[in-house]
Amino acid sequence: MTSLEGGFDMVSIERLRKLYDAYVDTFREEGELPPMMALKRVHTAHVVENAVEIARGERFPAAFVVVCEAAALLHDTGRYEQLRLYNTFRDSESVDHAVFSREVVEREGWLDECGEGERRAVLDAVLFHNRREIPEGLDDLTLAAAQTVRDADKLDIFRVMEDRVENSDWRNDSTAFWNLPLDVGPNKAVLDAIREGRPVDYQNIASLADFVLVQVGWMVSGLAYATSRRLCAGRGHLEFRRGFLHQLTDDPAVDELCDLAGRALVA
Ligand SMILES: [Fe+2]
Repeated sequence: MTSLEGGFDMVSIERLRKLYDAYVDTFREEGELPPMMALKRVHTAHVVENAVEIARGERFPAAFVVVCEAAALLHDTGRYEQLRLYNTFRDSESVDHAVFSREVVEREGWLDECGEGERRAVLDAVLFHNRREIPEGLDDLTLAAAQTVRDADKLDIFRVMEDRVENSDWRNDSTAFWNLPLDVGPNKAVLDAIREGRPVDYQNIASLADFVLVQVGWMVSGLAYATSRRLCAGRGHLEFRRGFLHQLTDDPAVDELCDLAGRALVA
């Protein structure tokens, strides 16, 4: 096992996990995390698992794998304070949670003992995880960490959405999906972006169908690594969305774009 000078190794990733858990523990009330925070902790655990699986699947060097794991662990660090301070996870009504997560990680000093290259890669991967696109010109380690966290995050967002469909009364409870209309078909601007392999401008999301199609768009062009696409295909996320979209709309674009995603996932 290789490890960069001053960088993460299996010991320091263990230390980072302990520091992170101790920080999260400060948000417990009588031993329990508030439910919304507990969901974020579960999400983070899944993103870490996904990130390690992706990094290993892509045969990254061991020193890259631990940086990807660290970035995944820290990517949503600011969610706890965001909820405590603003009582919402909506960035538009509070703070950009990626910027805020990076600030918290720096303030807590968790990366002060690792090498500068690893430190920057983790911090930048945290910062870029929710951007429409990653900036150009990143070094190999930062790019690998950023792309791995973004793919790992999307894979778990698929799981979270399916959980909500199955465990909420979404047909009658409009808050399950942020009051998005259920009986409105897809927006042409969303369909065109997905057909052209561009990220969807979130301002064009005008219905629940659009919201689900954005995730189909991730399968068309938003997963950076073949391992991520293979995991996505194996977990049945595309077929879930095809079936769910058929419940929302009879627009033929649903099958057209799901077929496009199916081809992209096996490419
Ligand atoms: Fe996030």
